[in-house]
Amino acid sequence: MDRILLKNGRIVTVKSKGPKFGEEMADLSVIERGYVVVENGIILDVGSGEGLDYVDEGTEVIDLEGRTVLPGLVDSHTHLVHYGSRENELKLKLEGASYLDILKQGGGILSTVRATRSASYENLYKKALKSLDLMLLWGTTTVEAKSGYGLNFEDEVKCLKVAKEIEHPIDIVSTYLGAHAIPEEYKGNVDGYIDFMIEKVMPYVKKEGLAEYVDAFCEEGFFDIEQTRRVLKAAKELGFQVKLHADEIEPMGGAQLAAELGAVSAEHLVAVSDEGIDAMKEAGVIPILLPGTSFYLRLKRYAPAREMIRRGLAVTVASDYNPGTCPTESLQSIMVFASLGMGLTPQEVISAITINAAYAIGRGSEVGSIEKGKKADLVVMNALNENYIIYHFGINHVDMVIKNGKIVVR
Ligand code: NIG
Ligand code: FE
Repeated sequence: MDRILLKNGRIVTVKSKGPKFGEEMADLSVIERGYVVVENGIILDVGSGEGLDYVDEGTEVIDLEGRTVLPGLVDSHTHLVHYGSRENELKLKLEGASYLDILKQGGGILSTVRATRSASYENLYKKALKSLDLMLLWGTTTVEAKSGYGLNFEDEVKCLKVAKEIEHPIDIVSTYLGAHAIPEEYKGNVDGYIDFMIEKVMPYVKKEGLAEYVDAFCEEGFFDIEQTRRVLKAAKELGFQVKLHADEIEPMGGAQLAAELGAVSAEHLVAVSDEGIDAMKEAGVIPILLPGTSFYLRLKRYAPAREMIRRGLAVTVASDYNPGTCPTESLQSIMVFASLGMGLTPQEVISAITINAAYAIGRGSEVGSIEKGKKADLVVMNALNENYIIYHFGINHVDMVIKNGKIVVR
């Protein structure tokens, strides 16, 4: 049976010809008692009423009894492929150690790099598969996946291949994040590491189609502005689009650099300055905010999402799923932090994790809204309205997931 009719639902269509900017993010297009019909992986129609014209003997009809249908959620920033876990850092964190303190004690990114380097392709594949299963069960249907826990040629390629080859209903958009940390073998020689990425790794990644984007962690103790500029300029010359981990902990001017480079997105931005926000607005850079990371790092502050909305930016929210600073696959949990931590309304949160997220990873014309002709990626939530999803927190509201027109969770 190829056609599915969902009827009697509250359909949150999130219509938009581009990302939703600023105050528009609060305007969801909602059909109170509506239907969605999908066929051959595509949304055939959406409207109000029961959609009974679409029923024939080959149609599976599902009565939603008023439940809410959202576009499949889009997680636009994850570090999907890595090995090991870092629960040992929890105690240090509770004793007051900062992220950078933990790093200095040999924890942090480099400990995950060691674990990832010693893991086989198969082990990484299995672990990533488990995470994707969880994401799907919690409503995510498209993810961006960054590398950055292999750092040397062989292990970065191993991780990027996992993301490319993994068989799973979720669609993956890949990003090469070699500039995630300075590997032990290049300690004290950051320029040497950058040369290596530019000359050896990026041309190969491009040639093999292993990533669409290149990202860099522009932060004190990692890559400074000049070093980040070098990596990302070279990436652009090779034909990649670029993204930045910017102003996560210190206000480094990463947002301004994102604007200068014409980056698609700047991500984290907890410490962004007003000038940085203006520069992003001017250049059309999409901010991807990661409130789960603020919470998990006990930062006591969140990225200034309300200010960005006031200034008309297309705010996006993502999980940052990674083993150190946000070990969760659940975008529904992140929705709660986005609302109660950053002050976004449930409607703004939904725009942020659907249409805006889709544009932030170059998939805006295919996914992120429930519109005729788009991919049939839908999530049925056991909730009579979108406010309830955030109000009743910490649980999974997903009743059904349709990916590419097929029911993959029910
Ligand atoms: O996005 N900011 C850089 N990278 C990750 C953390 C990585 C880790 O601690 O393993 C992040 O927060
Ligand atoms: Fe990140």
